[in-house]
Amino acid sequence: MNASLIQLVDIPQRGDARGQLSVAEIGGALPFVVRRVYWIHGTNPGVSRGFHAHKQLRQLCVCVAGSVRLSLFDGKSEESVVLDSSTKGLLIGPRLWREMHEFTPDCVLMVFADAEYEEADYIRDREEFIKHVHSS
Ligand code: TYD
Repeated sequence: MNASLIQLVDIPQRGDARGQLSVAEIGGALPFVVRRVYWIHGTNPGVSRGFHAHKQLRQLCVCVAGSVRLSLFDGKSEESVVLDSSTKGLLIGPRLWREMHEFTPDCVLMVFADAEYEEADYIRDREEFIKHVHSS
């Protein structure tokens, strides 16, 4: 049986009387050294994003407020997950087509990446992506 495309990691939370503090670190929730962090927020109603894959990049996505549905496609099957917790991270490896749907207006999606932004690492055409995965 194929492994699930959805790889969730638990992010430890240190709660006390003051509130919550969540930690992603090497040896814990982070399986790679982070070289870039960005966040998606203020998404307009009805907007979907993503619609691309990466050739090399690895990412960890954490929805720290609100919720979003993320779908992953490996060229054969597609799976989706709702991210709505600051203590769950979704690991996205290379060669996965991702789409983000159903952002709530308050959604803040943090993305930790193992490399700097590089447009040449993107595949933005779905048919090209399918050819890419079937040829490698
Ligand atoms: P893009 O990755 O296409 O967004 P999404 O997949 O969420 O739809 O990025 C949107 C724009 O922002 C695009 O012009 C590239 C730019 N960008 C950067 O300059 N640096 C970054 O780290 C990222 C992720 C995007």
